This record gives sequence, structure tokens and C-alpha cells, in this order.
Amino acid sequence: MKDTPIQVPQRILMGPGPGNAHPRVLAAQSLPLLGHLHPPFLAIMDEIQDGLRYMFQTKSKYVCLISGTGHAGMEAAIANMLEPGETILVGNNGIWGQRIADLAERYGGKVISAEVPAGAALSLPKIKDELAKHKPAVLFLCQGESSTGAHQNLAGVAEACRAHDTILVVDTVCSLGAVPFYGDAWGIDCMYSGSQKVLGAPPGAAPFMLGERGFKKLQNRKTKVASYNFDLNLILDYWGCFGKRFYHHTGMISNWYGIREALAIASAEGLEAMWARHRKLHLYMWEELSKLGLEPFVEKEQYRLVSVNTIKVPEGVDALALCKNAMDKYSVEIAGGLGPTAGKVWRVGIMGYNAQLANVELVITAFRDGLKQQGYKSRHQIADQDMPNPYEGAFPGNGKA
Ligand SMILES: Cc1ncc(COP(=O)(O)O)c(C=O)c1O
Repeated sequence: MKDTPIQVPQRILMGPGPGNAHPRVLAAQSLPLLGHLHPPFLAIMDEIQDGLRYMFQTKSKYVCLISGTGHAGMEAAIANMLEPGETILVGNNGIWGQRIADLAERYGGKVISAEVPAGAALSLPKIKDELAKHKPAVLFLCQGESSTGAHQNLAGVAEACRAHDTILVVDTVCSLGAVPFYGDAWGIDCMYSGSQKVLGAPPGAAPFMLGERGFKKLQNRKTKVASYNFDLNLILDYWGCFGKRFYHHTGMISNWYGIREALAIASAEGLEAMWARHRKLHLYMWEELSKLGLEPFVEKEQYRLVSVNTIKVPEGVDALALCKNAMDKYSVEIAGGLGPTAGKVWRVGIMGYNAQLANVELVITAFRDGLKQQGYKSRHQIADQDMPNPYEGAFPGNGKA
């Protein structure tokens, strides 16, 4: 290996994540290290918890970061909320339900899958029926199914769960900060999220919460949590939830500085403004993409996730070639499908720091150009054949480092 400074190309990451981190977040991560149990760092952890409570709209004491990416949040939720032999009902409309089912089996759970077609979400009546039929210990729902672009409504679900003493676990990895989430008002028992999506920080820590019922479930477990790394009794003790600080593992100091900064930025903007910014850009992008003849994979508007948009690949269009052109010419990432949408859609993330008009315009230009190159005709292209491409030549070196 040569002793030269690391080289990293500039990219605009408009896929389903990670997105670009806010410069203030990156700057915070380069600050000097502190001891992970030293008072100045513990004060930063306290600030992070305040910021998380705001993002989650909760007063719960039991909020923390789980060291690791969204998958660490998933595993912490299952390892702590489900006991061996218990039943978990999994809302399954894409890969995240399937992955939770896999994790639940590894922890000795009995999995029942409540399936709806890709591109849809579970209705409240369906959830109520399935709960009444199976009386599961845990119900899992993904608020933002990033493999299909579907948005799961959560209102009323916790009340339905209470009737069967079911714990509600929710994934908000791709949705928290882009769409409303009310931890307390919706009665969420356990929720995990991701740092590298709407929060606009690098990957590495999963924002996490237990509501009162989730915490009671943890306290009343008959069996020890099978994972040391994800045992919330120990992790929450490190986060000061029990009035002291237990050394569980070394906190991810630089990563958490970044998350502290991202939470401060989000708090200053305000959740309602953040939700409105994401929704506005999502609507604008669809207005423009539909002029190009492109259609959403998620047919019903009520199920369309604003943060991860799935766009049907028209017949005869080479999806990968369009992504490659976007990256080579505009340095912008447009992603392909995943799981049930593989080969069928493009995925465009409108998330966090990247949720800016200029980035969305660039994505639209990359689609217009990519489709034109492949001879795909749409009403818009016929009407505007001679419209100059405002970004042509704007990226010297075609985005290559
Ligand atoms: C909805 C959802 N859940 C969980 C995850 C897993 O997160 P990570 O890749 O950070 O482990 C992702 C990642 O894209 C996701 O979109």
C-alpha cells in the first residue's frame, strides 16, 4: 500500500441510502476523540438522547443508539422483544419483513407472515384480522419499505395490538424525518431507524426506542437475551437510563459526534418543515417524471413513500445503462430495484441533506437524458426535443475521480 492521501470521488447519492452527509456532520466527525466514559462525552450522549426524543416524538427514557447499521437495530429489536417459542406476526410487503422473519427464526421465534403484494401496505382491518387470528407476542411493520417504495400507515395499529397484548415493533430506517412518526401518540412499543438516510449522517449507528410496554416486556422476560452485543438491559445501562453508566462496549465516539450534529440540524429545521420539504420534492419529481412518460411502481398514492421512490422501468429500456449514464455523466446515483422489485424499477431517494431542489432537478435531467439516449419516446421529449440540457458539460471528467 502506498503512503498517499485517500482519494474519494464526489457523488450525489440519490439512491435508497446512504445519502450524502451534511458537511457540518462530517466536520463534527473529525473532532478530537474523547474517552467514551468521560464526562464531556457523556454530556454529548445526553444531548443525542434529547435529539432522538424529538425525532421519535416520545418522552420515553429508553432511547439510545445501537452501535451498528440499521441491521443492528433490527437485531436488537428481535433479540429483546421476542422470546424463544413466541409468535411474531410479520407484515411482509418487501425484503424487510422477510429479513425480520429470518432474524426471528434465528432467535427461536415462530414466524407468521401477513403478506400483501409488493407496492402495497397492510390495511388496519387486515392487521386487526391477523392479530385476532394469531394473537402474536410481537407484530412487526416497516413504515418505509425501501425495496418497493411503500409507506405503511401506523395510526391505530398499537390500539389493535393492545387488545391481544402484542408488542408493536416498527422499522423507520428509511422514513424517520421524512414522514410523520409519533412514538407516544401512536403507542409504539419498539422502534429502530438508520443514521445514513434522512438524518444525513454516515452509517454506523441505529437510533432506537422502547416505549413503556416495550420496556416492561424486556423486564418481564423469562429468558436471558441471547445476544450480549444487543442486550438492551446492558446497552440502556451504558446510556444512563438506570442512573449509572455501565461499560458495555466502547461508544462510537466520532460517529456519535456526527449524529449529535445531524440531530441538532434536524431540530433547528423542525420536523414539520422536514416532512413538508420531503413531500414537496417528491410531488415535484413525480410531476416531472410523469411528463417523461414514467410511472410509479406504487399504484395507490396513499401508499407512496416520499423518501424512497420506485419508478417502473418501461419495456425495452435498459435500467442499468440509465443508472450508469447518470453516474458517469452527472455523478448522480440512481439505484435499481431490490428483492421483489429487482429488474422492474429504479429507486430514487429523496432524503435528508440530499432532499434539495438542485439534486432532484439533476435526477430528472439524468432520466431525461438516459431515456433519450435509448430512443425512449415520451410526450415530453417529443414536445421539447430541442430543449438544451442545463447540465451538459457541467461535470468535467464526467464525474470520474
Ligand atoms: C427499511 C430498511 N430497513 C432496514 C435497513 C437496513 O439498514 P442497514 O443497511 O443500515 O443495515 C434498510 C437499509 O436500506 C432499510 O431500507
